[in-house]
Amino acid sequence: MKCKRCATKATVQLRSHNTAFCKDCFIFFFQRNVERSIERERMFTRDERILVAVSGGKDSLALWDTLVALGHQTEGLYLGLGIGEYSSASQRAVEVYASAHDLKLTVVRLEEEEDGLGIPEAAFFTRRQPCAACGTFKRHHFDRAAHAGGFAVLATGHNLDDEAARLLGNVLHWQLPYLAKQHPVLQPTHEKFVRKVRPLYRTSEYESATYAFLRGIRYVVEECPNSHGATQLVYKEMLNRLEEKMPGAKLGFVTDFLRHAHPLFAATPDGPPLDCERCGMPAFGELCGYCRLVAEIIRRRTRAVAHS
Ligand code: AMP
Ligand code: FES
Ligand code: ZN
Repeated sequence: MKCKRCATKATVQLRSHNTAFCKDCFIFFFQRNVERSIERERMFTRDERILVAVSGGKDSLALWDTLVALGHQTEGLYLGLGIGEYSSASQRAVEVYASAHDLKLTVVRLEEEEDGLGIPEAAFFTRRQPCAACGTFKRHHFDRAAHAGGFAVLATGHNLDDEAARLLGNVLHWQLPYLAKQHPVLQPTHEKFVRKVRPLYRTSEYESATYAFLRGIRYVVEECPNSHGATQLVYKEMLNRLEEKMPGAKLGFVTDFLRHAHPLFAATPDGPPLDCERCGMPAFGELCGYCRLVAEIIRRRTRAVAHS
C-alpha cells in the first residue's frame, strides 16, 4: 500500500479514514488534524498560555508534543496520585520528556500537599471506587494550578475513544446535564476557572499511540491499576466491535452529536456563586466538592485511628 500523500511505501494504515501514510506523512496528518480541531472549535490562539495536563501516557504526551510542534506556548502539569510504582513510572516518563525538550513542567504530588492524601488512602477511607475520588482530586488540582499560574487554558489528552465511550454512557442513561457538558471546549463559569479543552477529541487512541511511537516518545504503557471504571471499558469494547464492521463509526458518533444534538441539550450552566471557605476555589456551598471530600476522609481517618 502506498502513502496517500507522497506515494512512497505506507507504514500506517488508518481504516477509519480509509487511507494510509508513511511515517513522516502520518506525523504531518496527525498534527494537522489536531490543529484543525483547535481552529474549528476555537480552543485557543498562539497568544494564549496553555497548561497541558500530562499523565505520562501516550495521549497527553502526544498532545504536548503536537502543541509544541504547532508553535503554541505550553507548560506541563503532572499530578502524582500516590499509586505506587505506576505513579513513579508516570512521573519519570513526563520528566524525561520535559527535560529532553527543554519544557517547563510543574509536578504536584498529592502526598506532599497540605492534605497529604494520595488516591489509595482517599479510596480506603471513603470506601468508594478509587476513580471517584481521583476525578475530584484531578479537577481540583488542575483548576488550582491553572488559576495560580495565570494560564488562559487547560488542555487534557482525552481522545476520540474516551469521548465516544463517555457519549455512549451518557446516552444509554440519558444523562441530560452530562450531555450538555460533553464538549471539547468548556468555557469557564467562574473567574477562578480557565477554559478547558480536549484537542484530541477527533483523534483515536490508535492514532495517538502510533504518533507517540513514531516520534520516539517513551510513554507509560500500563493503565492505572485501578483501571477506569469497568463500565467505561465495556463501552470501549463495544465501540471497537462496531468500528471493526463500520470504520469511522466512532468519529461520526461524536462529531454528529456535537453538530446536531449537543446544541439541543446545551444550556449555559450557572457557575458556583461562592468561594470555598477552606481553599478559596469556587464552591456551591461553604466548601467546594474537593474540600468536602477531604473533610470526609479526614473525619473517617481520625475515627479509625481513635478505634485502633
Ligand atoms: P484519564 O482521566 O486518566 O483518562 O486522563 C485523561 C487526561 O487527563 C489525560 O490525557 C491527561 O491529560 C490528564 N491526566 C490524567 N491523569 C493525570 C495526571 N496524573 N497528571 C496530569 N494529567 C493527568
Ligand atoms: Fe485515577 Fe487511576 S484511580 S487514574
Ligand atoms: Zn475548597
